[in-house]
Amino acid sequence: MELLHDIRTIYHLAITRQRGSTHKERLDNFYRGQAQDYDSFRRRLLHGRTELVAALEDLIEPGQTWIDMGAGTGSNLELSTELRRRFSSIYLVDLASPLIELARKRAKIRGWDNVFCVEADAAQFKPPRGLAQLITFSYSLTMIPSWRKILQHAAEILAPGGLIGVTDFYVSRAEPGPGFVRHSWSERRLWPAWFGLDGVHFDQEHLPFLLENFEPVVLKERRGKVPYLFGLKAPYFVFAGRKPIA
Ligand SMILES: C[S@@+](CC[C@H](N)C(=O)[O-])C[C@H]1O[C@@H](n2cnc3c(N)ncnc32)[C@H](O)[C@@H]1O
Repeated sequence: MELLHDIRTIYHLAITRQRGSTHKERLDNFYRGQAQDYDSFRRRLLHGRTELVAALEDLIEPGQTWIDMGAGTGSNLELSTELRRRFSSIYLVDLASPLIELARKRAKIRGWDNVFCVEADAAQFKPPRGLAQLITFSYSLTMIPSWRKILQHAAEILAPGGLIGVTDFYVSRAEPGPGFVRHSWSERRLWPAWFGLDGVHFDQEHLPFLLENFEPVVLKERRGKVPYLFGLKAPYFVFAGRKPIA
C-alpha cells in the first residue's frame, strides 16, 4: 500500500513541478495531487524535524505565541504534546491551499483549540497580539525564494530573547570554516540539482545567515536517507538560535 502511495507522490514530484505563473500557483499545483500522501512520504525524507522539536521542548518557556512558517500539513504539532501545550496561540502559516487545508482538518479532528491555520505568505504574516516567543521553519526556507526577506521579517516579529528553530536541506560553502561540516564538490552539485527539479532551492548561505543573525543554541549537521535513492544521504541541519536582546 505504501508503495502505491509513493508511486503517486513520485509521479507528482516528476510531473507537476514548477507549473504556474506565481509562487502560490506553483505551490498549489505541486501539492494538489500529493497532499494526501504528504506526511507518509515526507516522514522518510524530511529528517531533523523530531530533533528540532525535541531541542525546542528543552529550551522554551511557556509563552503566548508560536508561529510555524511554511507549516504544510501541521505535522510538526504531532511531534510534541508538551511543546504544543506551552503556547496560548500557535499559528500554522502556509501559502499552499491543499496543505493548509489538511492542517486545518488535523487541528479540528485533534481538538487543538489553540491552533490557527492561516493561508498566507510567510513574508506578510504578523501575529495579531504582540511578538512571538518561537518561530519555526522546517524545510520551508528551501522552498521560499525570498528567504532573506522572510528571515528578516521573522526577526522583526520575534520577541527579544525568543527562539527561531530551523531544519532544512543544505550544502556547505566550499570553505565553511573551522568546526563546520564541509561537503564534497560532488555533493555541493548533486543535491541542489536534484532537489532543484522540484522547486527546492538549496542555498549555502542559509546556515551562515542564521548564525550571523541569531545567537546559536543548537546546531547539528547531519545526513539523511532519501527514499528510493539507495545508499545516498542528503545533508540537512538543525538550528535553534535566540534573537539577541537589544
Ligand atoms: C517541504 S514543505 C515543508 C512543510 C512542513 N514544514 C513540514 O516540515 O512538513 C515547504 C512548505 O513551505 C510552504 N511555503 C513555500 N513558500 C511559502 C511562503 N512564501 N509562505 C508560506 N509558506 C510557503 C509550502 O507551501 C510548503 O508547505
